[in-house]
Amino acid sequence: YKVTWDAVSAERGGFEHFMLKEIHEQPRAITDTLRGRLAEDLSSVHLNELSWTEDFLQSIDRIHIVACGTSWHAGLVGKAAIERFAKIPVEVEVASEYRYRDPLYSPNTLVIVITQSGETADTLAALRDSKQKGLRVLAITNVVGSSAAREADDVLITWAGPEIAVASTKAYTTQLVALYLLAVYLGQERGTLAEADRNEVLNALAKLPTVAEKVLDSAPLIEKFALDYQDARDTFFIGRGLDHAVSLEGALKLKEISYIHAESYAAGELKHGTLALITEGVPVIALATQTELYEKTLSNIKEVKARDAFVLGVTWAGDEELQKSVDEVIYLPKTSPLVAPIAAVVPLQLLAYYAAVVRGNDVDKPRNLAKSVTVE
Ligand code: G6P
Repeated sequence: YKVTWDAVSAERGGFEHFMLKEIHEQPRAITDTLRGRLAEDLSSVHLNELSWTEDFLQSIDRIHIVACGTSWHAGLVGKAAIERFAKIPVEVEVASEYRYRDPLYSPNTLVIVITQSGETADTLAALRDSKQKGLRVLAITNVVGSSAAREADDVLITWAGPEIAVASTKAYTTQLVALYLLAVYLGQERGTLAEADRNEVLNALAKLPTVAEKVLDSAPLIEKFALDYQDARDTFFIGRGLDHAVSLEGALKLKEISYIHAESYAAGELKHGTLALITEGVPVIALATQTELYEKTLSNIKEVKARDAFVLGVTWAGDEELQKSVDEVIYLPKTSPLVAPIAAVVPLQLLAYYAAVVRGNDVDKPRNLAKSVTVE
């Protein structure tokens, strides 16, 4: 009898890497983050952990979201959701910039710091500066008892569970869930949430665990793409609106662990320069999940296709248009475009993962990167 596993691989639960395990844990992590917050009849959101007074809740007139890396990307989606559902103007900024300038704020500005670890030095510094100014700070973090959780006035915990791989996956998706819940909550309490939006987003949130599970079926197609394009020098990720926010995260993921250069572009901005870099065979990952922007995105996709790029499109199951203009399509299980980033990021995570694996990289511990950056 031979023991073929050790303690570490047992911890990985049969997966070859922590990152792959964590990608697969997303349906569970999303369920845990929704639990107790989304009413079972899908009529409302309850965030009992917030200690805000009714006066404060009604008086918030600006929101500053401050974060680093992947958490900053989550903040970009959070801005879109809060502005749509709660009609409060939101600024999103990386912590290392925010803390060294004089951001304009009002006494009723809410500062939201997003940090998986709760220990990122620049984010904590922004938190402390904001408190010093007398602003209320809400921390969205994955670590109970972290510095951010202890020092913020209020905390929303993301229940992703421990994330070991340096490249963040389930922490990001649960940050998005927390931000959607917060955006809906603000809109519901302040009376700005349109009835149609409420039904659409709450139904979509409830179905997200199933969506995140089904989207994993796209793995074989993505693995093949990663194999075919493992020697690519540059790649481009394009999209509009929420697709642009998630394409930034897709490009970061690919850079972090495969070391392939990736750029994310707002699809409509390509023609203002970067189109010059799109030449024959350059891989372009084009996201087209935003129904209202679909036609515009499609015409941008045709622009890159006309330059003979190799285009991998991402859209909803049932779409018949996109395949006519691209080389391969990843179909996402149908859900509301409002929550598209949570579905669309999964194939992008898998792409980074397989690209790193085929290139023989240390997937869970990429060179020069740390899980938590506690220096400024
Ligand atoms: C490091 C990690 C990133 C992470 C960033 C922010 O750079 O490598 O994956 O997104 O820190 O971390 P935080 O814990 O504050 O979310």
